Parts: sequence; structure tokens; C-alpha cells
Amino acid sequence: MTGPDRGYRSGMPLTRTLDDSTVVITGASSGIGTATAYALARRGTAVVLAARSEPALRQVAQRCRELGGRALAVPTDVTDLESVQQLADRAVGEFGRIDAWVNNAAVSAVGLFDEIPVAEFRRVLEVNLLGTVHGIKAALPYLGAAGGGVLINNASVLAEVAMPYQSAYNAAKHGIRGLADTVRQELRVTGRGQISVCTVLPATIDTPFFRHAANHSGRELVPPPPVYPPEVVAETIVRLLRRPRREAYAGGAARLIGLQWRLAPALVERTLGWYLHRTQFGPGARLDSTGNVFHADGQASRSGGWHGRRRQLVRMTAAFGLAAAGTAVGTMAMNRRSRSDR
Ligand SMILES: NC(=O)c1ccc[n+]([C@@H]2O[C@H](COP(=O)([O-])OP(=O)(O)OC[C@H]3O[C@@H](n4cnc5c(N)ncnc54)[C@H](OP(=O)(O)O)[C@@H]3O)[C@@H](O)[C@H]2O)c1
Repeated sequence: MTGPDRGYRSGMPLTRTLDDSTVVITGASSGIGTATAYALARRGTAVVLAARSEPALRQVAQRCRELGGRALAVPTDVTDLESVQQLADRAVGEFGRIDAWVNNAAVSAVGLFDEIPVAEFRRVLEVNLLGTVHGIKAALPYLGAAGGGVLINNASVLAEVAMPYQSAYNAAKHGIRGLADTVRQELRVTGRGQISVCTVLPATIDTPFFRHAANHSGRELVPPPPVYPPEVVAETIVRLLRRPRREAYAGGAARLIGLQWRLAPALVERTLGWYLHRTQFGPGARLDSTGNVFHADGQASRSGGWHGRRRQLVRMTAAFGLAAAGTAVGTMAMNRRSRSDR
């Protein structure tokens, strides 16, 4: 197997079992963050839940306790370094240590590059990329003090490939991948290899993300199929805590797209551009909105209600069958050309 899932261990796993560990999760009030909190709570982990919306966090914390975990809700804006440092301090004040930190909070602004206001573009970078910087800065001293631990950045397959109408999000997610690789190198060369750094690259996931995004497209946003449940990412994160890797895809489509991209980037860039231009919008019209980019939505919800649309799945499968065939033909053509050039 090639690429992120090749299995190269990025460092040490948790120094303790999950039922004896403390894990901080940003973006825990909704979607993948909530699903991850529940997955860990079921295993008895102490979870520290961060996002802007306090009522939503409290609801998630309550459910985590019902599931058997310990939970602390800490309202946090990840764009504010002080707020993130207070989150780390509160986690240690309550549970004594931090064993792992999951940078998961994100927002998006959808529209052509020329249509996304610069203030929103900046804010997407601040939440998604700088928020991850803040999380790593706050977590590292505590992970060091605990004798090691795991840092997980939830990026996206869009950290590896491109998607039209998502320029700010793509730029931020590509940045997260480079940031993680550099921090991992630095930890190794400075004798801190007991702290692992992992990047998660999910496919499309069924969360409220597509309702939360700022929208300047004039059209209804829908998740491009196939759409996987948030538990797929939550379980990937749990596996990384036990057995860290540099990178892990979540959802088979992400693995397939990543592989195709590495084989024939120019061809797959075109095919994906065409496919996503057609599949990320529904039939309805929408007025411009800033979504949750500047303010929380406030409703705790794990799922977005899109999972399992078979018709979309069939379209996706057909499109990627075509893309796979195109990749194969393109690769054969390139090989033939390079042979005849010799
Ligand atoms: N859904 C997908 O298809 C998909 C695919 C690949 C990767 N991902 C990634 O998965 C992660 C979770 O996304 P999701 O799909 O679960 O979307 P979501 O349901 O919209 O969750 C986003 C979370 O980020 C929080 N957040 C936003 N701005 C924040 C800020 N300034 N400070 C603190 N928290 C903030 C939100 O809570 P508040 O509003 O309460 O702050 C919410 O808890 C993101 O990194 C996303 O890029 C998603």
C-alpha cells in the first residue's frame, strides 16, 4: 500500500490505557468532535470538550457521563491563544494531566475564490490553521510533562487534494498537514519523539458542517457523496491514540482519491473539479450567509442527516469508476510517451 496508510508508526502511543487517560477535543459541540467524545467516553476516558457554544458542550458532556466517561466542558474560541491555554490549564486542573489533544474545530466559507470576502477567508485560516497552532502550543508542554502523548489534527482529504468553491478551507487544511509534518520532525530531532503527531484525512462525513458553512454560491450546499457517518472518523482517532501513524484516511473514498491524486495529479485535479462542481450543490437557491464562521450555531448534533443516500452513492461510484479508468489510461499514456521519448 502507498501513501498515508502505509503504517509507519509516528511515535509512541498513549502512555496509559484509554480508561486512565485525559483527551482534549476541540470542536466537540458538534459532528465529528461529538462522535469522538462519545467513542472515548464509552471507553472510560476523561474528555475535555471545547468549542464556542457552552449549552451544546454541556449537553455533550452530560451524554459522555451517561456513557461511562468523565467530562469537562470548557467554552473556548480556538482563534484566541489565551482561551486555548486556559483550556489546557482547566483540563490539567480537573484531571491532573493531558495524554492526548485532538485539534478538530473548523469552519468553511463556500464560493468561488473571487466571491469569498477576505474577512471570511482570514477567519477560516484563523480557526482551522491558527486554531491548530494554538492547540499544539498549549498541548506540547503538558504532553511533555506527562512523559509523552498523542497530538491528532483532524484535517481532511482536502489537505491532500483540491476542491473547487473551498479555497480558504483547502488552503488551511493543506497548511495543517505541513505544520504537522514539521512539528513531528522537530520533536524527533529535539529528543521528544515520545510525543506522536498524527493527521487524519477524512472523506465526506455526515455532520452539520454543510449547514454551518458560510455560503456565497447562491445555491444550497450538500455533501458530495459518498457520505460516511462521523463514527468512522471517531474510531480512526481512537485507533491512532492506541497506535499512532503519521497520517490516516477515514472513509474508503478518501483513500481512493488520495491514491489517484498521487498517480496522476493533473488528470485527477480535472476530474475531481468536474465531479465536485456538480455534486456539492443541491437544487435550492440560497442567500449569502456567514454561517458559523464568526459565531456558534449552538445546537449539539452529531449527524447532518445525509448518510446513506443510495442514489448519490451510485453517482459517486460511477464518477470515480470513470476517474479510475481515466487515471489508468492517463498513466499508461504517460508511460508510453516517456518510453517513446527515450
Ligand atoms: N464533515 C465533513 O465532511 C468533513 C470532512 C473532512 C474533514 N472534516 C473536518 O472534521 C472536523 C469537524 O468538522 P465537522 O464535520 O464535525 O463539522 P461541524 O459539525 O460544523 O463541527 C465544527 C466544530 O468546530 C467548532 N468551532 C467552530 N469555530 C470554532 C472556534 N472559533 N473555536 C472553537 N470551536 C469552533 C464548532 O462549535 P461552535 O460553533 O460551538 O464553536 C463545532 O463544534 C473539522 O476539522 C472539519 O474540517 C469534516
